[in-house]
Amino acid sequence: MSAEGTVMPNTQIDATREAAVPRAPLLEIVGIGKSFGHFRALKGCSLEIRRGETVVLIGPSGSGKSTLLRCVNLLEPADGGDIFFEGANITRDLANAPRIRREIGMVFQNFELFQHLSAAQNIMLAPMKVLGLSRSDAHDVALELLRKVRIPEKAEAFPDELSGGQQQRVAIARALAMKPKLMLYDEPTSALDPEMIREVLDVMADLSAEGMTSLVVTHEMGFARRAADKIVFMEDGQVVETAPSDAFFGGSVNERARRFLDQILH
Ligand SMILES: Nc1ncnc2c1ncn2[C@@H]1O[C@H](COP(=O)(O)OP(=O)(O)OP(=O)(O)O)[C@@H](O)[C@H]1O
Ligand SMILES: [Mg+2]
Repeated sequence: MSAEGTVMPNTQIDATREAAVPRAPLLEIVGIGKSFGHFRALKGCSLEIRRGETVVLIGPSGSGKSTLLRCVNLLEPADGGDIFFEGANITRDLANAPRIRREIGMVFQNFELFQHLSAAQNIMLAPMKVLGLSRSDAHDVALELLRKVRIPEKAEAFPDELSGGQQQRVAIARALAMKPKLMLYDEPTSALDPEMIREVLDVMADLSAEGMTSLVVTHEMGFARRAADKIVFMEDGQVVETAPSDAFFGGSVNERARRFLDQILH
């Protein structure tokens, strides 16, 4: 939602160059296809996300939302089309997959925390193993992130001592610990009781407002109105509609998207 924080050394020259050559989107998905056996889960999906944008992805169950996120994160190999991250084609770049996954954080519906580790330890693990941080530095990072997700007092608690909303916020902090350039969220609040949904969405909305580029699968339309720049509607393995949030909620959407929106709002 906000401008990116890149500092340009020579503003005048760089500003001219930028105007002439629009900067590549952070993520560009071009005609991605994915089949499971004979079943085509994705049939040529395209979308792009610019730095600092939050894009909300909606659509009926089985439309391919999770599959699309998994392809972006290279958890699932796409079998057609291209995915560009920072302008580089990562679709078949398996050698670079670990780096890509470091730079793209993912938050799942069921948190997927390590049950035998405390909140702080869950967050410290990857920075220590992958980024080579010392235990003490990683602990500092964990405490700072737990403050950010508004549960500083839960550092030593284990997942089974936390509410679902708290566990999901630890999962978000764990993803943030790798300083990702893009966050993917796959229905992060759909396993939560209603009273916990808000606290998770508030943290996500704060991150978006601070400029964290995000692709969010959610049917929480209050969040979408508040935080999304763009709404993408998928159906049957295809992107059927992409619209700026204002236009989408203002009613400028095609018939299928409107029908789906009516269903989830009523
Ligand atoms: N590993 C797999 N093997 C076979 N079929 C799969 C696999 N993963 C997904 N599918 C199928 O691909 C289609 C898209 O699934 P996906 O999970 O992406 O949908 P979704 O939009 O995320 O749905 P939901 O809203 O229920 O989470 C579904 O029909 C699903 O059954
Ligand atoms: Mg899904």
